[in-house]
Amino acid sequence: MTTKNLQIEKLNGSFELVLQNIASDKSISHRCAMFSLLSDKPSIIKNFLRGEDTMDSLKIAGLLGALIEDDGETIIITPPSKLSEPNNILDCGNAGTGMRLYAGLLSGIDGSFVLTGDKYLRSRPMKRVTDPLRSIGAKIDGRENGNKAPLHIRGGKLQSFNYHSPIDSAQVKSALILAGIKGDTKSFYKEDLLSRDHTERMLNGMGANIFTNENGEIEINPINEPLKPLNIRVPADPSSAFFFAVAAAIIPNSKITLKNLTLNPTRIEAYKVLEKMGAKITYVETENIYEPIGDIIVEQRPLQGVEVSENIAWLIDELPALSIAMAVANGESTVKNAKELRVKESDRISSVVNNLGLCGVKFEEYQDGYKVFGGTTLQKATIDSHGDHRIAMSFAIAGLLCGMEIVDTACIDTSFPNFTELLSLLK
Ligand code: S3P
Repeated sequence: MTTKNLQIEKLNGSFELVLQNIASDKSISHRCAMFSLLSDKPSIIKNFLRGEDTMDSLKIAGLLGALIEDDGETIIITPPSKLSEPNNILDCGNAGTGMRLYAGLLSGIDGSFVLTGDKYLRSRPMKRVTDPLRSIGAKIDGRENGNKAPLHIRGGKLQSFNYHSPIDSAQVKSALILAGIKGDTKSFYKEDLLSRDHTERMLNGMGANIFTNENGEIEINPINEPLKPLNIRVPADPSSAFFFAVAAAIIPNSKITLKNLTLNPTRIEAYKVLEKMGAKITYVETENIYEPIGDIIVEQRPLQGVEVSENIAWLIDELPALSIAMAVANGESTVKNAKELRVKESDRISSVVNNLGLCGVKFEEYQDGYKVFGGTTLQKATIDSHGDHRIAMSFAIAGLLCGMEIVDTACIDTSFPNFTELLSLLK
């Protein structure tokens, strides 16, 4: 990743726009690359996210023996008859999802695998997956006793489990589901809040049997034969689209239609918060492929401060962008119970509040969140992205109000390669 800077000009006037070509969903694209390995037939993927994170997951599928055919539009992934031991390390780049889900998948496969990533990913905690995986027999090692990548996995037979996760994390859940389907008998996974459930929906669509039972546990039944292949057009990513939702919500008299997003309820909570703050939001479901898909229309209205302390896993990725709306809104806004923000691509509590501070916004920082004193006129500043795509894009949106210089924006390519192109449409 090379460093790049971005200059954002203040927008003169309002905009009204229908936005197509929003980056495809990152979570679903990662899973397409990985889950295609669980079939014995070619999976057909349209609209795969061509961001660095998900292309890294696709490359790893190739290193594990899959044939990847890509005509620039459709990607066909033909799995090998047996996943092979790669002759090189598996580089997940910047992607926590890539590393944690592959750790679960590879723990149950015979062979030796090394998962690594860029300097940011190598500093993120992996114990949340390596601990439960080790407790069911996976042989995993890494720095800090298996907490930091590079991780070495010697895959093999795993035991079934009954695990209550201390964190609501789709990455942990998915890693354990991928390990659980390889077991001999059923396994159980419990989380306090249902985290994004693409793994369950997609694997069930492929013929697996994973469901929430009457005790509120996710029951994971072993798969005894290869799954059906995927045939999917990946919807647009609501967390990427959310930057533009915030743009429409903070620029007076603006309106945006965000096309073809996943409307999975575990993914659109940030839009509900924006609605609670006063923006007008309309949801239009148009189809259902593994999950509901459709458009979200956002219209500017005066914004009020809000408290965000529940359903945090459903809006964790959108909190940096939501914080820009909080800075513009009248009154105070508070984010609580969000200590997970500290271990994302950057420490997002610190990178959000300190950058807001540079824009003249008053704040209080807590261990698990922050308070933003809204209603200030934002000032142009020089923002450090900390190599974090969502910080770079959130402050680019703030720049529409006051101009902004953002340092180190190459990270935007991890999830939203055409972000600046779409941003230039807001004239
Ligand atoms: C993701 C889960 C979330 C989210 C990340 C993508 C996924 O992480 O923040 O961007 O695709 O499973 P956690 O599971 O760690 O909360």
